[in-house]
This record gives sequence, structure tokens and C-alpha cells, in this order.
Amino acid sequence: MIAQRLLRPDLAAIEVYQPIVPFEVLAERLGRPIGDIVKLDANENPYGPPPGALAALAAGRHYHIYPDPDANGLRQAISRYTGAPASCLLAGMGADELIDLVLRAVLMPGDVVINCPPSFGMYPFSTAVNGGRTVAVPRRADFGLDAAGIAAAVAAEPRAKVLFVCSPNNPDGSVVDDATLRRLLALPLLVVLDEAYIDFAEAEGFSSRLSWVAEHDNLVVLRTFSKLAGLAGLRVGYGAFPDWLLPHLWKIKQPYNVNVAAAVAAVAALEDGDWLRDKVGRLVAERERLARELAAFGFLQPYPSRSNFVLLRVVGRPALALKRALEEEGVLVRHFDKPGVDNCIRVSAGRPQDTDRLLAALRAIIAREASHE
Ligand SMILES: Cc1ncc(COP(=O)(O)O)c(C=O)c1O
Repeated sequence: MIAQRLLRPDLAAIEVYQPIVPFEVLAERLGRPIGDIVKLDANENPYGPPPGALAALAAGRHYHIYPDPDANGLRQAISRYTGAPASCLLAGMGADELIDLVLRAVLMPGDVVINCPPSFGMYPFSTAVNGGRTVAVPRRADFGLDAAGIAAAVAAEPRAKVLFVCSPNNPDGSVVDDATLRRLLALPLLVVLDEAYIDFAEAEGFSSRLSWVAEHDNLVVLRTFSKLAGLAGLRVGYGAFPDWLLPHLWKIKQPYNVNVAAAVAAVAALEDGDWLRDKVGRLVAERERLARELAAFGFLQPYPSRSNFVLLRVVGRPALALKRALEEEGVLVRHFDKPGVDNCIRVSAGRPQDTDRLLAALRAIIAREASHE
């Protein structure tokens, strides 16, 4: 068979990553117009890009020219926004590309990546695609990292090379504290700190560790415009990398990885700092309202979150059935049924009217159940 002869045998064993169902497909399946669907399943920013970014996109005149391979203008803008020197920054087609790029640079087939589930699914996925082996050190029941367990796994795995730490963690929203992070950085591997949601935690006084990259030669920090700036559809993220790694990432990345539109929108978005901060504040407030109002139903138990979503354990009923019933009402949430997040749903913070729709849908579901009893 041709596949057996030509295909990498380890690819057959890779679990398919389940991305979200496209908006249009779902709208058609549910028989509703797109505008009627409340999308709280992928931690997107419902406010969309800042007006300045939309204006810059409309005014752009160079979409027929290949992008700057060095993304100089974007990296300068990120440098001004974060305070990190542009020389340590690399932009990518979303943080997703940078997760893959780091693994491509460091993994030899069979090398080990430590993952701390429940966490972001792209870490084990990209590890497998790059021929690595994931060793899981599960988080504790409160979603805190098991630092001793991680150290033991590193000691037991001479081929351990990378540790992924997501803070705030997707899907629960917990943050890693300084002491734990320092302890992990003392281990002999590369720590990739994924700060995709850090802007929401920063609004509540937690700090980004982007500046730590200058002091730790085994730390990478990744960030994205998807959540902060409503640019998930344009795919743009960035990272700060240590000196020894960065030149090799430059060497192996696709030359035109950040497209012209993404760079135009991202630069303009960063100029609209007040707008971004205002929306982050609104989303954090809405997350708190969500947690409070959902808890009042009695069968939903929220976990504390520092991000733009809230994880809820569903008690006394199947979470999957609840997710599906909400979908029928035009409200999308994410369902989990893995160790540590069994029978859970994750709800992204939306606009106040999105929360209103979710609450109304839940009331409708309960009323329907009561009328069938
Ligand atoms: C923890 C985490 N990291 C990275 C990403 C992906 O970011 P991007 O859209 O920049 O690829 C996500 C998206 O959901 C995420 O949850």
C-alpha cells in the first residue's frame, strides 16, 4: 500500500485535533442566521478588532506585495507595547505557529515534552506532529501545577526537553505563581510559558513574565492578538525567545508567516491601547457576572478564573447533553470530558447581551424539562 511505503508511520497514531466547527456550518446545521448565534466556545473576543485596526485594514494598499519576512514594523510596535526589545521578539501566524516552531527547532524523534493536563490541546498535538513523545504530569484538583511531579518526570526522562506552562491556563483560568515558575525554570529543560490570556490577568494585577526571558536562557513566553485584540481570524501572535534559540527559529520559519493584513491590523490595534483595556475590563467584569449567575442555577459550579472564560463543573446531569441543549438554543459553549475536567463546560466571557442570551437559554431548557416531568 502506498501509504505504508511513503507515510511517516507515527502519523497514523496522532489523535485528530478537534478545532471548533466553522460558524457558517453551525448556523446552517442549527437553522439560524449567523447573527443569531452566541458564540462562547472558543474564547474569542466578541468586541472584535479595535476601530483603528479595521480602518487600517480598509486603508491598506499593499496586499499584493509579499509581507516583510522580519515583520519589523510589527515587532517594533510589540516592543513599544510590552517593553521587550524587538531583537528578542518573533511574530507568528498565531501563537499556534510558534508552539510548532519551537518544537520543530528542539525535538529529535522520541524526545520528550512534559505537558500538564488539563491544558491547551495544541501542546501534545504539535509534539506528536514533530515526532516527540508527551509525558503528562496532571495538574492537581485545584488546577495548580504539580511541581514535584514535574521534577520527578524530568529526572525519570533523560530525553525531556520542553515543558509547557499555560498561565492563565486554558481551560480553567488559573495562574502560575512566581515561586512555582522559578522552581520549574531551575529544571534542565526549555519552559514555554503560554500567556495567550495574560491581558485579562494583568487587568487584575497579575504580571506578564515576558521580561523574565532576558534573565532565563531556558524561558520562552508566547502571546497572541487573538484574545486581546479580537484578531483570532487574522492569525497573529508573538513570542520572546532566548538568544541561543532565536536565530534558529528565524532560519526555519516560513519567510512570509505573518500576512500583510494581520500585521497592519495588529500594529493599529496596539495604537488603540485605551480601547483594548476598556474591552478587557468589560470581559473580566462579564466573566465575574457569568460565574455568579451560573452558580445560582445550582447545577453549575464555577472555578476561579483570571482569564476571559470560566470553567464550570456540571453536577447531577450530563454536561454533553447540556452543551447540546444550549446549542439548540443558539448558544455555543465548550464541553470537556477528560481527566480533571470530566463533565465540565467552559463558557467564554461575552458582551452583557451574550450572557443574557445564555441565561435565557438555560431557563428555557429547565422550563422544558420541568414541563416534561
Ligand atoms: C492557551 C492558548 N494558547 C494559544 C492559543 C492560540 O493562539 P493563536 O490564536 O494566537 O494561535 C490559544 C487559543 O485558544 C490558547 O487557548
